[in-house]
Amino acid sequence: KNISLNIEKTLGFISKDAVYAYEAQAKACSEALHNGTGKGNDFLGWLNLPSSTSKEFIADIKATAQILRDNCEVVVMAGIGGSYLGSRAVIEALSDSFELLKEKKDSPVIIYAGHNISEDYLSELTDYLKGKKFGVINISKSGTTTETALAFRLLKKQCEDQRGKETAQKCIVAITDAKKGAAKVTADKEGYKTYVIPDNVGGRFSVLTPVGLLPIAVAGFDIEQLIAGAAKMEEVCGLNVPFSENPAAIYAATRNELYKNGKKIEILVNYHPKLHYVMEWWKQLYGESEGKENKGIFPAAVDFSTDLHSMGQWIQEGERSIFETVISIETPNKNLTVPSDEANLDGLNFLAGKRVDEVNKMAELGTQIAHVDGGVPNLHISMPQLNEYYIGQLFFFFEKACGISGYILGVNPFNQPGVEAYKKNMFALLNKPGYEEESKAIQARL
Ligand code: PA5
Repeated sequence: KNISLNIEKTLGFISKDAVYAYEAQAKACSEALHNGTGKGNDFLGWLNLPSSTSKEFIADIKATAQILRDNCEVVVMAGIGGSYLGSRAVIEALSDSFELLKEKKDSPVIIYAGHNISEDYLSELTDYLKGKKFGVINISKSGTTTETALAFRLLKKQCEDQRGKETAQKCIVAITDAKKGAAKVTADKEGYKTYVIPDNVGGRFSVLTPVGLLPIAVAGFDIEQLIAGAAKMEEVCGLNVPFSENPAAIYAATRNELYKNGKKIEILVNYHPKLHYVMEWWKQLYGESEGKENKGIFPAAVDFSTDLHSMGQWIQEGERSIFETVISIETPNKNLTVPSDEANLDGLNFLAGKRVDEVNKMAELGTQIAHVDGGVPNLHISMPQLNEYYIGQLFFFFEKACGISGYILGVNPFNQPGVEAYKKNMFALLNKPGYEEESKAIQARL
């Protein structure tokens, strides 16, 4: 069984013929990806990553993960954007919701840093780590990302001060570019175990490299299954799979057709809050890949049914410029039924004996019908279960569809030139050496 896509509930808004009219274009885009003839073709390393990941490589990642597991009660993952969202997505999706509150833990607690510059956050983090046996996975492809570098400077010092240089050397791992960047220089000088982010894999497509695999393995999850799921999707969304059977091509075509018809915002929806960071990962993947040249669908996300009580009104009756893509989990991992209550003061006895998931599923179905009635096209992704294998499938499905969708849109889905604008201003405002001219210019504007 695989994850599957259903676009039936978009067909009152766009026609099936219009979606299928993309067949030749989607095929051409897929060929451009596979032949490396499209825009951004120096960043296509992700395309065959699952099927080319060797057993030896997985074993090496697992061995490093074991060292961290054996020597750390807490592991801090320092990274931002593509260097952290993928692993956080998997770890949060698969962890017990109350893991952090449990006294006895089977795996090190994974916490995150390097994804903001909040003094309160970093100060509270260093306080929390005081006296703890902690390790750090420092992830930065460029090695020059301020958020991550700043957090790592603090963490490295604290780890060495608390645990001694020798233990710190064992408990700090760097994942970075093969040659360039300060993270690489520091790792080499200090003798940290290092993994390389391949040159041809961009940050937001890097979850199936050590960037995602090492933290996920440290957290105790099965990276072989993750890769196996992704490899399966590589096949399912392969170049020679007919359009009608290729979920990545259909998804790419459908969302482009909706966009052409004024649906400028795509809302990714889940009914299990554990998927929150899968949504964050997806938002980056599509936002950074397609939002350029003054075009691109705006990727948004909601956690239902929670957000039905906050954003539900807007979705039901606000401006009709949105469509939804729902990720639905067929079978939950746990089993809980609604108890019967003699007094029935809350009037819920009509649910007694039903699984909680049945209630959730009816919320899902009821919402789909209401939103479609309200003018919101609805795509539906069905995931048999929430586990490593199907998350691997989901990742690769979205990545492949993103490449095709970006090419259909006519942009380079693999660059992110717009991200530099804020950095340039920040460096100028902070008088970073080398930014003297920019500093003068920006000061004059204040
Ligand atoms: O997708 C991307 O390229 C970005 O999100 C980067 O991953 C992010 O900016 C972090 O960059 P780096 O890994 O170089 O620190």
